[in-house]
Amino acid sequence: MTSTQREIEVSYDVSNEFFRLWLDENMHYTSASYLTGTETLEQAQLQKCKILYDYAEMNPEKLVLDIGCGWGANLQYLALDRGVKRSHGITLSTAQCEEIQARKLPGVTAMVCDYKDYAPAEKYDALISIEMIDHLCSPAQAREGKAVEIYRNYFNKCATWLKPGACFGFQAILRNVVPRSKKDLLDLQFTADVIFPGGLNPRLEELIMAAHPAFEVLEVRTQRESYGKTTAEWYRRLQLHEAEIRSKWGDQVYADYDRYLSTCVRAFDKHWSSDVQMKLRKV
Ligand SMILES: C[S@@+](CC[C@H](N)C(=O)[O-])C[C@H]1O[C@@H](n2cnc3c(N)ncnc32)[C@H](O)[C@@H]1O
Repeated sequence: MTSTQREIEVSYDVSNEFFRLWLDENMHYTSASYLTGTETLEQAQLQKCKILYDYAEMNPEKLVLDIGCGWGANLQYLALDRGVKRSHGITLSTAQCEEIQARKLPGVTAMVCDYKDYAPAEKYDALISIEMIDHLCSPAQAREGKAVEIYRNYFNKCATWLKPGACFGFQAILRNVVPRSKKDLLDLQFTADVIFPGGLNPRLEELIMAAHPAFEVLEVRTQRESYGKTTAEWYRRLQLHEAEIRSKWGDQVYADYDRYLSTCVRAFDKHWSSDVQMKLRKV
C-alpha cells in the first residue's frame, strides 16, 4: 500500500506558506546537488534539476512526466529554464496541485492522481521522479519482505508509459546504516510516524534489483553530503522564522519540524540516510 491521501496531506498540506518560509523560493522538497560545496541552496537545486534533465535525455520538444511533482519546482525548471513545451506532473497532494496551477507555467499540466491509477493518453519521451518512491512501501510491508516487489511493480508501471529506449531521471532518498542509540532511533521513528506517515526510505540495492527487468541502470550517483547540506539549510531557515511559525501554525508544528530537520541533518552526517540519482533506460 502506498501512503494514503490522508497521510500525504499530513506530510505536505500543513500550508504552502509554511513550506515556502524554509524551503527555497521554488519549493523543492528534495535534496539539492552541491557540486562545489559553495553554491547557494537555490543554485544547488537547479543543478539537481539539470542532472535529472540530462539523465532523462530531455530536450524542449520531448513530452515528459514528473511523477510525484510536489509544488512544481522541477516542472517550473522544465518550462521556464529549459523551454520544454509540454510537461505533465502528478501528485497526491491537493495543496501542491493548487500551487502548480497558481504558477501558470506554460505547457505544464498537473493533476492529483495516484500513480497506480494513472493512465496517460500518449506515451512519454522521458520520465523524471524526485523522491516519491519512499511513499510506496510501508515499514510493515518491508518487514514482510515485499519491498522489492512493490518497487518493481512501480518501475514496471512507469515503463508502460514510456516509448521504447526512452530514459528516466530518477532520484530517491535512501535508508543506510541503523543508528545505535535509543534517542537516535526514537528521532528517526518520530520522523517516520509524525512527518512522513506510511512511508519508508528504500535501500539502494532494493532499487537496483527492482528496476530490472523493465529498466537498464546506466548511471548511479549518490549524494549523501548534498542532502546533509540541503537539510542544514532548511533547518537554518526554519529557525530564522521561528517566531512567525509559532504565531501562525502553533508551537507544536514548530517543535515537530525542529525535531524532524535536526534529525535529518544528523541522519546524513552519520550515514543513516543517503540519496541517489539514477539514469535508467527502458529495455
Ligand atoms: C518528497 S515529495 C517530492 C516532491 C517533488 N518531487 C520535489 O522534488 O520537491 C514526494 C511527492 O510524491 C507524491 N506522491 C507520493 N505518493 C504518490 C503516489 N502514490 N502517486 C503520485 N504521487 C505521489 C507526493 O504527493 C509528493 O508530491
